[in-house]
Amino acid sequence: MQDSVRVCVPRFLQIGRGSVSKLPSIIEAIGSARRPLIVTDKVMVAIGHVARVTDLLDEAGISYGIFDETTPDPTDIAVQRGIAALREGGFDSLIGLGGGSPIDTAKAIAVMSQNSENILDYRPPSQFNNSGLPVIAIPTTAGTGSEVTHHMVIVVEATQEKISCRGEAFVPTAAIIDCELTLSKPPRITADTALDTLTHGIEAYVSEKRSLFSDRMALDCMRLVSKFIERAYHDGGDIEAREGLMLAATLGGLAFSNSSICLIHAMSRPLGALFHVPHGLSNAMLLPKITEFSLSSSIERYADCSRAMGLAAEDDSAELAGRKLVSGLFCYTEIMKVPSISEFGIRKEEFDSSLDQMAKDAISSGAPRNNPRLATQAEIVELYQQAW
Ligand SMILES: [Fe+2]
Repeated sequence: MQDSVRVCVPRFLQIGRGSVSKLPSIIEAIGSARRPLIVTDKVMVAIGHVARVTDLLDEAGISYGIFDETTPDPTDIAVQRGIAALREGGFDSLIGLGGGSPIDTAKAIAVMSQNSENILDYRPPSQFNNSGLPVIAIPTTAGTGSEVTHHMVIVVEATQEKISCRGEAFVPTAAIIDCELTLSKPPRITADTALDTLTHGIEAYVSEKRSLFSDRMALDCMRLVSKFIERAYHDGGDIEAREGLMLAATLGGLAFSNSSICLIHAMSRPLGALFHVPHGLSNAMLLPKITEFSLSSSIERYADCSRAMGLAAEDDSAELAGRKLVSGLFCYTEIMKVPSISEFGIRKEEFDSSLDQMAKDAISSGAPRNNPRLATQAEIVELYQQAW
């Protein structure tokens, strides 16, 4: 538990149904964002989310540009293209619209266009605090929490290294949290992003870097996910459930951004880098197993998680509540048909030959040091094998 923490959050959080309509007034309030570049992807264009935003900007007489070339697992090359588009059009700010990838790309363009353009200069453990251009984040997936965090993940295209950058520079200036934008999410993405959110809550709460502030965010994050995850999975149009999960994602982002992620995220990232498992899904694959592994080292904390999620009764012993947490997490992944690593379609020989590298990459991210139970490289390999 940290005694003193510096909390870093966006200047504006516009939260609630229909919040996206407040975009012009947010732009006005920021002041220095007069000509934004919308950073998004082709799916957002196809399903009409980009048109929703540009209609608002047209009505308000705000000129803008559109960069729709972001990809899942954004790369340094995509960021370079975005910086070129920013300069060509003389834009002074970014609107990141979409899932974590477009928002991270917008954050990267905003910071790197004003500082070093070499992603390797942002490699941890260095923290980067020099701010860049204003960023307005508009999430459409309710998962990563990137709209409020001082993290972003960029892949180096040449080496496929996934760099998890940290620093106050990466906190967006504003975030618009509008659950109506998540209604189009299919069940698979709904489940995976919600389980990513849940992982943020749990890891922030058990992390060695936790604080009283992050605890509050984390507990409410877990409460909301457990209340609404199944409803949203079974009925994508359940607006109340969507609203709960959207707020949970933001709270989870605030929690881990001001505490830390731990072993689950550390082991999840190599699965994304090497085998292109989407971020939420790789966390979901690992969540129950690694929680089981870590349980005994912080039984009271995990028991709190279990009670917050309604899996254990208030008067259950910590041991019983902890066991109920693990079985509850296995239950979620079963109900929501989370595939195992093998079921995802990765080739066994390729997976086996990557185990040592994945374990090394997980350790070098630094996040396992915050986990309640420290894992050796051999234990990490074993956990990957169990999750296979
Ligand atoms: Fe995550």
